[in-house]
Formats: sequence, structure tokens, C-alpha cells
Amino acid sequence: MSPADLATLAAFLKAGSGLIISSDKSYLVESRLASVADLIGRLKIFPPENLKRDVLEAMTTNETSFFRDGTPFEALRTKILPSLIKSRQTSRRIHILCAAASTGQEPYSIALLLQEFQQALQGWTLDIVATDIDTAVLARAQKGVYSKFEVQRGLPVTHLVKNFDQLSDDAWQIKPAVRNLVSFRQTNLLQDQPTWGTFDVIFCWNVLIYFDPATKSAMLGRLANHLADDGVLFLGGAETVIGITEKFILSPGMRGTYMKAAARALAA
Ligand SMILES: C[S@@+](CC[C@H](N)C(=O)[O-])C[C@H]1O[C@@H](n2cnc3c(N)ncnc32)[C@H](O)[C@@H]1O
Repeated sequence: MSPADLATLAAFLKAGSGLIISSDKSYLVESRLASVADLIGRLKIFPPENLKRDVLEAMTTNETSFFRDGTPFEALRTKILPSLIKSRQTSRRIHILCAAASTGQEPYSIALLLQEFQQALQGWTLDIVATDIDTAVLARAQKGVYSKFEVQRGLPVTHLVKNFDQLSDDAWQIKPAVRNLVSFRQTNLLQDQPTWGTFDVIFCWNVLIYFDPATKSAMLGRLANHLADDGVLFLGGAETVIGITEKFILSPGMRGTYMKAAARALAA
């Protein structure tokens, strides 16, 4: 692929999804997109919406698993949910966002944890909004059907037995009681989200890594506008707010979680 073609595609991806493709990544483009030259020609002149969508989706990385990286979910189970159960006694509502949910293992892991607090949360309004730019992964997530390989990656067997129906040798479906806690929406995190409201917890995991600093900063600013003042932001292990935004600071004692900088000012 010529450097000019790679530059055209890189500019299209950055504007469409925020994805940064550097000049040494032509191998990635060629492995994911068939007949690159023809496609880039079509992208240059009034590309149809479905072509734009297909190219963006072909270039997204959807890697995920249940209870990925362990520690953050432990923080959610042992510290954050118990604390929300105390602080939200009046509203009796917990509103959680999974900003780049891919095939759904992340929001369903959160839903499984909420199930563990079933008794304390009796009569509460619980909802997990799971979003992604990629409609194909969202369609899979909505069905909540996972292969043997996928349920063996990170999902404790107690959850598999209790909260999944086995459909075949290689397919397990998460039960409706857990599935109904999650609603899926196609969303581009590069855009403002006027309908989002305020969340108590936001997972924005393993998506900032694909963006440049200006896009990360704008996205974190947007997330800060939709996080409660005492809310918690989770970022992936390779992601940070340091040097990117002053809207968030690291939460003391909880690796990978961040609080609003304004919240510390209020507490001081
Ligand atoms: C590596 S996956 C992370 C999945 C999950 N959060 C995890 O950590 O296991 C990254 C996801 O971000 C989504 N994504 C990429 N750019 C996006 C954008 N601009 N808006 C919303 N989602 C985006 C991709 O489609 C992909 O499913």
C-alpha cells in the first residue's frame, strides 16, 4: 500500500472512530481489509454509510473476556458496590456505563456482581448501559451467547452453573434475569451524548489506548460530565489520566480507578 493511501485511510479512521494508525501499521490494514486500493478510492469520493461502517468495524479490536484483569472487579465487589449501597439509600438506584463493551463480557461481569448483592438491592433500580461503535459486536452482546472458550476465560464456574443456560456443547447463554440488567446502544465516543444522564460508575476500559492524546483528553472530559461527583471511573491497566486531563485523579488505594478531581476539592 502506498504511503498516500495509508495516510488517506488513517485520516478517515481518526475522524470516524478516533483510531490512530501509524505509518508502520500498513500490515494491519492489509490483513483486515480486502482490496485496499479499490476501497481507499471509494472512501475518497462520497462513500456510502455502510461502507464507512464496514471499514471502521473491520479495523476495531474487540478483544475482551469475563472479569478481565480481576482486580478492578474485586474493587467493585468489595469497596465500590458496598459503598454505593450505603450512599444511594434514598434514590435506591445504581446507574453504570460500560463505554466500549465489545461482545458484552464486561457489562455482564458487572451484572453478575450486582446479582451477588441481590438481597441488599431488592427493589432498587439497577441499570448498566453498554455501548460500542461496532454494531456487529453489539448484536452478539445482546444475544449473550458465548462459546466454551469464552466462558472458560475468566468466568468462575459457580457463575456459569448458576447464571447461564447451556444451549449446546459449544454455546452458553446468559440467563434473562442477568441479561435484562444490561441495555446495549451503538455509540461513538468521539461524539457528545446528550441522552446519557449521570452514572455512578463508568468503565472505559481498553479503548483510550487506540486514541491520540487530544482525543483521549476530549473523551475523558465528556465522561467527567456524565459521572456523579462521588462516582468512580475505571480505566484499563495500560491507560491513565496522568498528563492527559486534570478532570480526574487516581482514587487512593484502588489501582486502575479514578475519581473526579472536583470531588477531592469538595472533600477537602
Ligand atoms: C479492546 S475492546 C475493549 C473491550 C472491553 N472494554 C474490555 O476491556 O475488555 C475496544 C472496543 O472499543 C470499541 N471502540 C473503538 N473506537 C470506539 C469509539 N470511537 N466509540 C465507541 N467504541 C469504540 C471497539 O469497537 C471495541 O469493541
